[in-house]
This record gives sequence, structure tokens and C-alpha cells, in this order.
Amino acid sequence: MAERALSRGAHGGPYGPGQVQPILHIGDPVLRQVASPIPTSRIETPATQKLIDDLVATMRAASGAGLAANQIGVSKRVCVIEVKDNPRYPYKPTIPLTVLVNPVITPLSDEAFENNEGCLSVSGLRGNVMRHVRIRVQALDRHARPIDVKISGLSAGTFQHECDHLDGLLFVDRVTDTRTLATWEQFALHQRDEYLERVRSLVALYGQ
Ligand code: NI
Repeated sequence: MAERALSRGAHGGPYGPGQVQPILHIGDPVLRQVASPIPTSRIETPATQKLIDDLVATMRAASGAGLAANQIGVSKRVCVIEVKDNPRYPYKPTIPLTVLVNPVITPLSDEAFENNEGCLSVSGLRGNVMRHVRIRVQALDRHARPIDVKISGLSAGTFQHECDHLDGLLFVDRVTDTRTLATWEQFALHQRDEYLERVRSLVALYGQ
């Protein structure tokens, strides 16, 4: 795991190894605060770079698909996303390591899909939430360079989940039918097959 803990960014790393930090759980008030923007001039400071390295290391150690800074107790608008052979979400399309500073999400259509989500800050539970199918994501990367991408399908759900964290929102807030809430074990027994069918058609429509 030492090799995986190294955070090699898409933009020429390597960076520091990052330290795995404790993840806050639902009920901790920090998760409910609206996180503060990071001034552009602060992005390349050692403190922000270490925060990003810690986020990557912690996300990877916990097999998360993403992690927001407030989940490790830092109420700043930065999150990381990476999906690659993820044991928690084996059906998710690959997303290369992405660092989003001060991200803004704009829906590009009214289309929505019913996603099934879990969260490292909500131990043991999954549930169905509605997500926009097509979004535009604008942010800065770890070197304060602009990111402006369009994301569709299942991956769009991952981006919306992580950016929700920065506004103090957890997926459980968006669960409209609480009867869909399930433990991971019960999800696998009773909901996974139907969900994977939905995922397959979504990936067929929107690809990665
Ligand atoms: Ni989460």
C-alpha cells in the first residue's frame, strides 16, 4: 500500500506522500458547515498542498471514490476524486485523480438519474438519490490552473456528491425515499442487481 499512498498528480508529481487522517462521521458539526473558499494565492502554499496530499492518501486508504476536506476536519473548499478498480464501487467508470479547489457545478440539462450512494462519513448505509446527468464542473487544480469540464452519467453523480460535502450536505439529505436506505450487506442482497442494470444502461448512454 506504500506505493499507492504516494500521491502522484496528473500534472507532474510526485508530491508528498500525504498522511492518512481520521474521517469525520455524520453528526460532527464540521460536516454541516459551508466550507470556505481557498484564495487563489493560497493554493500553492505548503499547508494547502499538504491538505491535498492528505486527502488523496486518506481517500485511497479508505477505498473512497472521493473525499472532501471537511471530511477530515478542514472546512475548506477542496475535494479529491479518483476511481480505479474500486472495491467499494466496482461498477463505477474510471476517473483519474482529480483535485478540485473551489469547484462550481452547473447542471447542463434537466435530466436526472437515480443513483445509489454511500459515503465514508455515513458508515454502513447506502441510499438512492437523484443526480443531474450532465454537469459542467469549473474549479482550480492544485496548481491554481483552471479546470472546466463537462461530466456525464454515473461520474457526474460522484462529482455532485463530493461538491455537496463542501456545502455541508450529505447524501442522506437527498434521499427522497428513506425506504431505499440499506446497509451495504442488504444492498448487495436486495438492490444491487436492479441498480447494476440501471448503471449498465447509464454507462451505455453516457459512457465514462
Ligand atoms: Ni461522501
